[in-house]
Amino acid sequence: MSTLTIDIRKADPRDAAAIAEVHAESWQGAYSGMIPHRVLSGMITRRGAAWWANAIRRSATVLVAELGGEIVGYATIGRNRARELPQQGEIYELYLKPEYQGVGLGSRLFAAARRRLTDHGLRGLVVWALEDNANALSFYAGFGGRDIAEGVEVFEQRALRKIAFVWD
Ligand SMILES: CC(C)(COP(=O)(O)OP(=O)(O)OC[C@H]1O[C@@H](n2cnc3c(N)ncnc32)[C@H](O)[C@@H]1OP(=O)(O)O)[C@@H](O)C(=O)NCCC(=O)NCCS
Repeated sequence: MSTLTIDIRKADPRDAAAIAEVHAESWQGAYSGMIPHRVLSGMITRRGAAWWANAIRRSATVLVAELGGEIVGYATIGRNRARELPQQGEIYELYLKPEYQGVGLGSRLFAAARRRLTDHGLRGLVVWALEDNANALSFYAGFGGRDIAEGVEVFEQRALRKIAFVWD
């Protein structure tokens, strides 16, 4: 029997192509039928390997979850962007490949992202999720996040509501 090890670490520019693949698959899985097709395809195409390599080299903090040597998830984290919320840290994105969802990896990645923000001296955490993304809402509520604010994200003609979860 072999044991697969899970490693959560900061991304390296060499991970860019693998992250682009995770991004494409997880966004298709989470948002097709929710975000208009053309808009979603455009968002995915725009974020190819070159986009990710650039994001990793610049200031954005990108974390990856690696299982048995394969990158199966990523998170991007940094300062909270919503001025009206006092929490200092934010998880901008947290995504796993569809076939690796539901087995605890998201929980591990979330905990690691949160720890890293705290280590950077950022107190409190915000995560936004689309209201139609029921899995994400139950995931963040399950971690004790309080849904305290709402917003709207406009994708061409379609306006989708989003919810902010916070932890102090
Ligand atoms: C949301 C996501 C990050 C959760 O990670 P995950 O590894 O699948 O979740 P875990 O296995 O760690 O499960 C943790 C909890 O999340 C909830 N959850 C996870 N998958 C779920 C599913 N398919 N349906 C309903 N709830 C689910 C459960 O409450 C679960 O708690 P439990 O184990 O006590 O039942 C992951 O499913 C994902 O990438 N989804 C698609 C992209 C997305 O929606 N990202 C968030 C955007 S804001």
